Amino acid sequence: MLFSITKLAILVQFLSSITWGYSMPKRDYDNKNYFILEFDTSKGSKNLNSFIKENKGIYNFEHQLYGFDDHYIFSINKSHPYNDFLGNYNSDTINHDDGNLKLLKRSGEYEAQYDSLINSVKSIHSLKPKKLSKRLPIQIEDRSIDIVDSAQKPIKDASEKLDINDPTFIEQWHLINAMNPGNDVNVTGLWYEGIFGEGITSAIVDDGLDVDNPDLNENFNAKGSWDFNSNTNFPKPRLFDDYHGTRCAGEIAAVKNGQCGVGVSYKSKVSGIRILSGTITASEEAAAMIYGLDVNDIYSCSWGPTDDGRTLSAPELIVKKAMVKGVQKGRKDKGSVYVFASGNGGRNGDSCNFDGYTNSIFSITVGAIDYKGLHPAYAEACSAVMVVTYSSGSGEHIHTTDIHDKCTAIHGGTSAAAPLAAGIYSLVLSVNPNLTWRDVQYVSALSAVPVNEDDGNYQITALDRKYSHKYGYGKIDAYQMVKFAEKWQNVKPQTWFYSDFKEVNEAITKDPSDDNKVIKSVININKEDLKLMNFDKVEHVTVTVNIESKLRGAVGVRLISPFGVISDLATFRHLDKSGQGFADWTFMSVAHWGETGEGDWTIEVFSDPEVDINEVNFKNWQLRLFGQTIDADKAETYDITKDYAKIRRDKLEELKNKPKPEEKPKPEEKPEEKPKPEDKPEEKPKPEDKPEEKPEEKPKPEEKPDKPEDKPEDKPEDKPDTPEDTDEPGQNKQYTNDHTGQYFMAIAVVGFIIVIIMMRYHKTPGSSRRRRREEYEFDIIPGEDYSDSEEGEDDDDEDSLDLGNDRRAPNKSNNQSRNSDEARDRLFDEFNAETLPDYEDDMFIIDDDDEHAKNPPQDQKLQEGSTLGSSYKPTEAKS
Ligand SMILES: *[C@@H]1O[C@H](CO)[C@@H](O)[C@H](O)[C@H]1NC(C)=O
Ligand SMILES: *[C@@H]1O[C@H](CO)[C@@H](O)[C@H](O)[C@H]1NC(C)=O
Ligand SMILES: *[C@@H]1O[C@H](CO)[C@@H](O)[C@H](O)[C@H]1NC(C)=O
Repeated sequence: MLFSITKLAILVQFLSSITWGYSMPKRDYDNKNYFILEFDTSKGSKNLNSFIKENKGIYNFEHQLYGFDDHYIFSINKSHPYNDFLGNYNSDTINHDDGNLKLLKRSGEYEAQYDSLINSVKSIHSLKPKKLSKRLPIQIEDRSIDIVDSAQKPIKDASEKLDINDPTFIEQWHLINAMNPGNDVNVTGLWYEGIFGEGITSAIVDDGLDVDNPDLNENFNAKGSWDFNSNTNFPKPRLFDDYHGTRCAGEIAAVKNGQCGVGVSYKSKVSGIRILSGTITASEEAAAMIYGLDVNDIYSCSWGPTDDGRTLSAPELIVKKAMVKGVQKGRKDKGSVYVFASGNGGRNGDSCNFDGYTNSIFSITVGAIDYKGLHPAYAEACSAVMVVTYSSGSGEHIHTTDIHDKCTAIHGGTSAAAPLAAGIYSLVLSVNPNLTWRDVQYVSALSAVPVNEDDGNYQITALDRKYSHKYGYGKIDAYQMVKFAEKWQNVKPQTWFYSDFKEVNEAITKDPSDDNKVIKSVININKEDLKLMNFDKVEHVTVTVNIESKLRGAVGVRLISPFGVISDLATFRHLDKSGQGFADWTFMSVAHWGETGEGDWTIEVFSDPEVDINEVNFKNWQLRLFGQTIDADKAETYDITKDYAKIRRDKLEELKNKPKPEEKPKPEEKPEEKPKPEDKPEEKPKPEDKPEEKPEEKPKPEEKPDKPEDKPEDKPEDKPDTPEDTDEPGQNKQYTNDHTGQYFMAIAVVGFIIVIIMMRYHKTPGSSRRRRREEYEFDIIPGEDYSDSEEGEDDDDEDSLDLGNDRRAPNKSNNQSRNSDEARDRLFDEFNAETLPDYEDDMFIIDDDDEHAKNPPQDQKLQEGSTLGSSYKPTEAKS
């Protein structure tokens, strides 16, 4: 019996790996709705099994969600009446920001079915087809560096010492900048010490990775790779414009092999996770974020919501859950490192705080500076920017590997900055693999070098570091970061503090007396509150707001901490004409890192004084602090679906009701947070002697005037406090969960496999062709790179945050930016959703070199921007 169980388990593993390993049945978006159901599997798979049985022929089982034990994908025929139970699934107006649907209570005919659903299912999540957009700046012409011979010495030295004969190494100014010395990532010192990123893998979550390119092949990690667009394990670029991921990969790990240049960590590995080249849903996106969790250390993401200056969009809940899983289970529980490009919408007045990927606490947001060290106008700023590194601007670009075994000299945008950072993180992790995902963020903040200090409105933060919304904590200096990381000791585990939702309900009206009105609201956090949550020191801060406005782009939101640091959460976006306001929108800031959290946190909501039609109603807000624990042993595992404000109130209640001194919820007072062993500059100037620090301690935390009732939480249901460790380490493979119901699950699974195999055979290939381009588009920056970034700088200066004085007035620079907006819109209109080709059409498949001829004329522009016409022709290294 035992033997046969084992055999069965092996069979299941085997079957699952060949059946969907991660491959999934072809989707039919035209005729079916897809959704994820989360089951309570703590008592085995009974719920799942009976659900499947009872709903056979209605809700059809598709497959398990990759990486999750308890999430399963189902489909339903769009014309079936039971779609109703999926709530507003079919409505176009549904806010799909987190994709979570409410089950609609039905009476009469369908009541029994409704009950069956509601009784066994923990959550339901719609899977709407969508396409994500690359951070893709358009480039027009090539331009090479004019190297003065004497300046080339560092390049020659490196080339000789390291035996680098790659022809475009000399052009890779981001590695060694001969023209503007000092404006590079300062990596050679590490290379001379033999630090090349060995043993670390970065996954390029993008449009593919040219595996066959000899410049990448040797460093390709097949195990960490998957193509979600073509459903294979070989993430090859297949469309004519699938060059983006390959270029990014080259920046990290282009092999030292006499071809093109080299990667910044040229002995590290790269894997390719292809999701940008076609229609996907949140289930593939979630799977991509944790694909190969046991192999991929870093996920480099140069894409996101459109950077058009009017989009407000966050990852769906299931994608957030995946990222939480990544930071909890990736890298043997040290946590995957997610690197995101801040975005290329700077010229559109866009801000990365309107993008829920970049403003996630789980991602490191990387902005750009150019080869002169200037801020390129395209690079988005916001309080979530952690660091910057090099990319295009002032007429130069990133030189890297390209598809078709070529090199490119025109890679750019923040798209190119993020992988460069990822490559440097490979170096960091190769010298200190002990760093957790949060340690990597500490190391980033503490070792970055401030740049352009007269420009970025830097503030001194509690870390005793300078912070700028444009440059974050500064640029990455690879040498300094790695040296710093080498000695870094792990920080204590993470904890969090959620305030109650604070009701404000104050408006700015048309009344002229409201012209310069600033709505202020304060949340006070006292020491007892923080102790209750085992909270020692702040890392990330998030603010969730509900603000109604007829003109979202004219609403400003800023947060002022007890320490006096200001985070500009919402900056004016003149293109954002939305009347939807901010509904449960969450902003993030890394500017308060190192603060105690104690004291008055003030939010200010105001309207652009130059816009007179705006009306604003600030309804309520919630402050969440994430940081270090006081007592590491009492650390918990974060659950994104829990209402920690309620949990805190319950703890407080418990404390009040049982005033016995030795009741456990009170973490004992640690007089001194253990000073970390070494020389961390983290020794901040003690906030205590900051004048603005109000030491007033309210002894009674909860009886404040703010109503402590729980407000529209994003998570309606209070999940029972299940033991948090339902996920086992390293089990990102399917069916290796340790739940008691595993055996039953296995049997059920065999059944499903058979069903699925049958389904696959019955499926007409290519039935899902529908595209939804209207929500997503390419990010285009017209000709941005052909003037010095200083020019962009000028208008930035005008509309940049003036922290000392009043809020900024971004409209001043409208003339200039309008022009570029127009240009951009024009470019965009030329190949927007309607004119974009169906990429799955054979004519776009790259399998030979004459695809130029095959492209229809309307793609001319796109092609121009692609590498096809413009691949770098290797020049001889001048000596
Ligand atoms: C969906 O239902 C309609 C009407 O009942 C039927 O004609 C159609 O074949 C079904 N489609 C699929 C994919 O099952
Ligand atoms: C750059 O690297 C060198 C070692 O190669 C190091 O001494 C220096 O501090 C680093 N940073 C700067 C800004 O020069
Ligand atoms: C990592 O941690 C292990 C044990 O926790 C320790 O032996 C090792 O020296 C650490 N490595 C680094 C580079 O700090």
